[in-house]
Amino acid sequence: MLLLCPTVLSLISSSLCAAAPQRDSKSELHSATSNRNKLLLISFDGFRWDYDRDVETPNLDKMAEDGVKALYVTPPFLTITSPSHFTMLTGRYIENHGVIHNMWFNTTTQERKQYYQAQFVDSYWDNGSLPIWITAQKQGLKAGSLHFPGTAATYKGETVRVKQVEPPFYNHSDETDWRLNVDKVIGEWFHQQNLDFVSLYFGEPDLAGHKYGPDSLNVKRWYGKWTGGQVKKIILSKIPGFNFKDIQFQLLDYGPVGMLLPKEGMLEKVYRALKGGHPHLHVYKKEEMPARLHYSNHPRLLPIILIADPGYIVNGLLPLNNHKGEHGFDNEVMDMKSFFRVVGPDFKKNMTIDPFDLVDVYPLMCHLLCINPEINDGHLENIKHMLVSSKNTVEDEGKTNNQVEVLIGLSAVTGFLGLVFIITTSYTVWKRTTA
Ligand SMILES: *[C@@H]1O[C@H](CO)[C@@H](O)[C@H](O)[C@H]1NC(C)=O
Ligand SMILES: *[C@@H]1O[C@H](CO)[C@@H](O)[C@H](O)[C@H]1NC(C)=O
Ligand SMILES: *[C@@H]1O[C@H](CO)[C@@H](O)[C@H](O)[C@H]1NC(C)=O
Ligand SMILES: *[C@@H]1O[C@H](CO)[C@@H](O)[C@H](O)[C@H]1NC(C)=O
Repeated sequence: MLLLCPTVLSLISSSLCAAAPQRDSKSELHSATSNRNKLLLISFDGFRWDYDRDVETPNLDKMAEDGVKALYVTPPFLTITSPSHFTMLTGRYIENHGVIHNMWFNTTTQERKQYYQAQFVDSYWDNGSLPIWITAQKQGLKAGSLHFPGTAATYKGETVRVKQVEPPFYNHSDETDWRLNVDKVIGEWFHQQNLDFVSLYFGEPDLAGHKYGPDSLNVKRWYGKWTGGQVKKIILSKIPGFNFKDIQFQLLDYGPVGMLLPKEGMLEKVYRALKGGHPHLHVYKKEEMPARLHYSNHPRLLPIILIADPGYIVNGLLPLNNHKGEHGFDNEVMDMKSFFRVVGPDFKKNMTIDPFDLVDVYPLMCHLLCINPEINDGHLENIKHMLVSSKNTVEDEGKTNNQVEVLIGLSAVTGFLGLVFIITTSYTVWKRTTA
């Protein structure tokens, strides 16, 4: 995730929110919005927290000097795309926002919708938590989103007003499109349409290779982490005492985590058969899930949850696996950790902060945008020390602008934009091949 936070004027500071909290009168609204930060949240799906250790990343290193990096960020469990990205947008753990999987499913009809089709099921996304776009719009800001998970859905009758949803079978690797999309966001959306907040999603980690470490980046090494023969398969049908006849609905063959709805009266039998059935398979009744995972308390979660150890995946009948890599492991597994950078006038420079949880990014973004957050699970206090309390000079602002252009080579960036970067993510790239 990359959070780009250009500001219009150098007068913005973190104290502005406190100074102008009331926005019901028109004049206050106007003055608050015209001095407000602009914020761009970019997610690169596929970065790992220690990416910059493996390869030469001179520009990411420069960003760390110019801003703040975290050692890593802990994503929410389940560490897959739609659930994690909705956590960024809401600051809620997955059990609280309800987007529990990339797949939408109906246990009665057996219907399933894969990642892309699930983007259009409003009731799946609109489950009581408002994404930051809608909250920002309700408070007078203009929001946009390009390809970010959740963009297509309607929340309490409202959508993000400026949006671009990728077409079906969109090629997330097309570098020409990356450039067009970045130019659209910076040139059209921020500059011409004067949006305050945009979320931008890139479906490939290769982007960073191209942008930040050309040639030196061995993407294959990264992909190779859990690939091919290295991923071991746990096949449930081979576990003695387990029988698919006892199962009403299953969500298996989707990486290291599976879920089962046993037929009526069969829960104990299924649970006892699977528990201890494989040395690398953890079997939980939903209510027994470790509390730290926050993946227990939602009606959409099925009664039995299976979690494989790192390097293993859960299959039903067959060793189905055409995946290029795996994600979704326990979020304490270091390979699931996310990468994080911020640069911008509100942030200290050359600072490395301790790891924190991805839920904390939401209150940070609300703070930068001067909007009142919805109820959320994040804590701004955890990361507030990355913020400067007083304002940079106009000169500093000018420097930041140059960095924007150096970093992302945007001809569309004009002089008045400052920059904040955050990058996090940890999810590998097989989502669409399985979805
Ligand atoms: C699943 O399908 C049943 C039967 O059509 C319907 O009553 C129920 O509301 C559906 N559930 C979801 C979550 O769509
Ligand atoms: C969230 O989804 C669950 C299960 O589909 C449903 O029972 C619940 O009413 C929904 N809550 C809201 C606030 O939409
Ligand atoms: C997607 O775009 C990349 C880069 O242009 C290209 O190499 C790749 O073959 C394309 N994939 C498909 C499925 O068209
Ligand atoms: C950033 O901090 C490191 C050590 O914390 C120091 O060695 C380096 O000189 C600093 N860089 C800048 C540009 O201040």
